[in-house]
Amino acid sequence: MRFHIFHRQSFFFREVWCFSICIEMGFLKVFLLILLVEIVLSEKVFKSVPVTVKAYENDTVLLPCYTDNTEGDVRVRWYKSNILVADSRDPNLLLPLRTRMHANFSLQLDELVSSDTADYTCEVIRPEPWGPIRQTHTIEVQYAPSVRTVPDDGFLEVKKGDYVDIGCEAGGTPAPIVNWRKNGEPMALLEHRSRIRFRAEHRLLAGVYECSLNNGVGDPVTASITVIIQDAPVVSTDRSFVHTALGLRAALAAKLEFAIPAARTAWYRDGQPVKTDDRIVMMVRDNVHQLIFRTVRKADLGNYTFRAENKLGMADVAFKLTGVPNVASFKVDPVLNKATSTSFTLIWEVDSYSTIIEYNLWLRPYYGRLSTPEPDAFTTETPANLWSKIVVPGDSSDGPIHSATYTVRGLTPSTVYEAIVTSRNRFGWSKPSAVLHFATEPGVGRTLPATSEYTDITPILEEIESQEPYNITQAHVFDRLNEVSSGARETPSCAAIFVLIVTFLVGFFSD
Ligand SMILES: *[C@@H]1O[C@H](CO)[C@@H](O)[C@H](O)[C@H]1NC(C)=O
Ligand SMILES: *[C@@H]1O[C@H](CO)[C@@H](O)[C@H](O)[C@H]1NC(C)=O
Ligand SMILES: *[C@@H]1O[C@H](CO)[C@@H](O)[C@H](O)[C@H]1NC(C)=O
Ligand SMILES: *[C@@H]1O[C@H](CO)[C@@H](O)[C@H](O)[C@H]1NC(C)=O
Repeated sequence: MRFHIFHRQSFFFREVWCFSICIEMGFLKVFLLILLVEIVLSEKVFKSVPVTVKAYENDTVLLPCYTDNTEGDVRVRWYKSNILVADSRDPNLLLPLRTRMHANFSLQLDELVSSDTADYTCEVIRPEPWGPIRQTHTIEVQYAPSVRTVPDDGFLEVKKGDYVDIGCEAGGTPAPIVNWRKNGEPMALLEHRSRIRFRAEHRLLAGVYECSLNNGVGDPVTASITVIIQDAPVVSTDRSFVHTALGLRAALAAKLEFAIPAARTAWYRDGQPVKTDDRIVMMVRDNVHQLIFRTVRKADLGNYTFRAENKLGMADVAFKLTGVPNVASFKVDPVLNKATSTSFTLIWEVDSYSTIIEYNLWLRPYYGRLSTPEPDAFTTETPANLWSKIVVPGDSSDGPIHSATYTVRGLTPSTVYEAIVTSRNRFGWSKPSAVLHFATEPGVGRTLPATSEYTDITPILEEIESQEPYNITQAHVFDRLNEVSSGARETPSCAAIFVLIVTFLVGFFSD
């Protein structure tokens, strides 16, 4: 009790001390100083400390409001989020359901539900001249995460160019953290956003977008939204140049890579729909559309088109049914491609159902690829008209696979060459092969020419670069200005209070 009185006195003296110096200071500072003193002292008055109670549904929670003032002249009020819920001097005040205040001023809440998540402030009103003091506790009724997708049915179909707006509205306490995956791959989003909005710039942005929500209570939950993007059809083929011979079976095959909405398809020859019968038939299996010639006649040879069309556009793929040889392909084999300083052995293969009459082998020194981003990186000379043609006789075999070997002589040492081959049968000339690059060995007693950097080159065939797959990068995701992630709560800004106090103290001591 002695201590108690002393304590009160010290408080009183401080206020007096404050008052005497306050006269020389600005009003704001006066106010803040009193506030600071009050904060420090009220902590001493309360025997309880502010708590954050993390509880579960149906739990009972007892919030303390114990002061060292045990005399009967105190009055205690409880506020839930600044709304008065209990008053020790007002027995008529109706307490909310499942709530009661004990004689020692503790507030008890039974059978917690989610709406009990709030700040609870105990206010102790003391006799004059002391002002009321307050202490705030927090109850957080924890709930496992729950999720509602936007759109509700988890399914969104848009036209190419439209906006895709999908989301996972989270429930649960504390607010769950949302993570996204697209087609099973984690998405590199900077924030744990609950909504994703982007422009359907490309059909490959379609897919299954899955959100996973976790708040550490119970198990994480997941939900998914399937995004479908409508676009013009896409068709492709592995072979547009189809080699055949009279009397054989031949098939043109086009793959319908994409058709949302569904596409109408048709085969055309010279602009006219192909007439089918029991010799020429159409077949569709797993999106592969085939035009099959059971026994090819001379009149069947020619140009064909496969076309797919929907309301957003159409796509064509052209075919040539021909008796001329297929495109030849060079074989790359370090043992068989014998190289000396002046010669090189080339090997190639070609499909032809008729005997090959002759091959044309085209050769020229390699001056670097002119189509590279820096055309002048390798040479300043234009390698125009430098191809030289070598006629290589065909074979007498009926095929269908023909292979040929030819040793080119009289080459320059330490030089890179490029080679192309074409083949001819009774139907005509084939298309040129892919370019092969090869190099001759260094010559004896010769200085290396300028192209010496290529001496280590191994024969390589040029490959067609594959297209990068399309994906969503950060740039495609738009910020939603009005987005408030559901369930997010303002956290009390301790930092702001700290800054306020420091600002005040600095101002105070610098005067
Ligand atoms: C809480 O109690 C209610 C009613 O008795 C019951 O339906 C509910 O399942 C309980 N919740 C938990 C988490 O036990
Ligand atoms: C306050 O009262 C409640 C109910 O009687 C009791 O459970 C609690 O322990 C009391 N607290 C103190 C500090 O006496
Ligand atoms: C087939 O198409 C090619 C171009 O792809 C053309 O040069 C040729 O003349 C066409 N043939 C016929 C028979 O129309
Ligand atoms: C998406 O593409 C960019 C560049 O095109 C690439 O850097 C990134 O790794 C890709 N992300 C995924 C998840 O594939």
